[in-house]
Amino acid sequence: MSVVPADFETTAIRVGSPQHKQLLSQFFIDTHREYDPEKIDWPPLSAEELRRLTGLPFWQEAVVTENVTSNTVTAAAALESDPQLKRAIAMQGFEEQRHARLLAALAAHYRIPLEFPAPYAPRDLEDDFLFAGFGECFDSFFAFGLFALARDSGLFPAALVEVFEPVMEEEVRHILFFVNWVKARRAELPWWRRAAFRLRCGRIILKQVASRVKTARSLGGGARKSSENFTLTAHRDIGTPMTLHGLLATCLRENDRRMGHYDARLARPRLVPSIARVLYRLLPARL
Ligand SMILES: [Fe+2]
Ligand SMILES: [Fe+2]
Repeated sequence: MSVVPADFETTAIRVGSPQHKQLLSQFFIDTHREYDPEKIDWPPLSAEELRRLTGLPFWQEAVVTENVTSNTVTAAAALESDPQLKRAIAMQGFEEQRHARLLAALAAHYRIPLEFPAPYAPRDLEDDFLFAGFGECFDSFFAFGLFALARDSGLFPAALVEVFEPVMEEEVRHILFFVNWVKARRAELPWWRRAAFRLRCGRIILKQVASRVKTARSLGGGARKSSENFTLTAHRDIGTPMTLHGLLATCLRENDRRMGHYDARLARPRLVPSIARVLYRLLPARL
């Protein structure tokens, strides 16, 4: 379903301008969906499907990440002076809390043993928001591809996959909102402070890369496993043997498909898809 408005225009608008900020908050608020994780009708699973679901290696990591992200984003609404952008960030915080509630409901229904940490207390509103946002740009790009593989593999009931479709769509909106917010924030700074802001973002992105590699190693089962091994393992976990080359192609395709539903005047996340595109071109297809 396309969520491009009827009066869709392709004319570029200046990042950080009142029109850009209005479009940004409006797109986000208009595409919010209502659903209640506590009222989900979880589909029955066969013993094999249940084993496959509970055996996925990322549930605990997802719980930890959603705890940090939901509390960070909720608090970050205080950063904004623009009332509509503030409302959009608060709504994003609500959606992140809902992801955490969805994970709790899933764990309770299928008896997945997960530990739910105490609510994360942000230390620095802006730094934490930037850290969470850049982290989502990495995670979501790969989540789009892995979700498509899980959906198309037929190894999970379609009704279960459907439960997570709104989460994927929310992550598209979150990263789309985030990259535009970062650009608008930078554009509002006096010119002499913009370089420092860029450097700060660069430092946070590098920190996220390092933390992703660490997480991938621990999920991969030990320090000797590389992040690439984890990615390959992840395909097997969702039942689809695939090369890294194939995974990158799926992630790129899904990213383009999902992003294509939104107003072209908004900036797109570029860093992760660009790295993936370079890797896709460089890597041999058999890898
Ligand atoms: Fe989330
Ligand atoms: Fe998110």
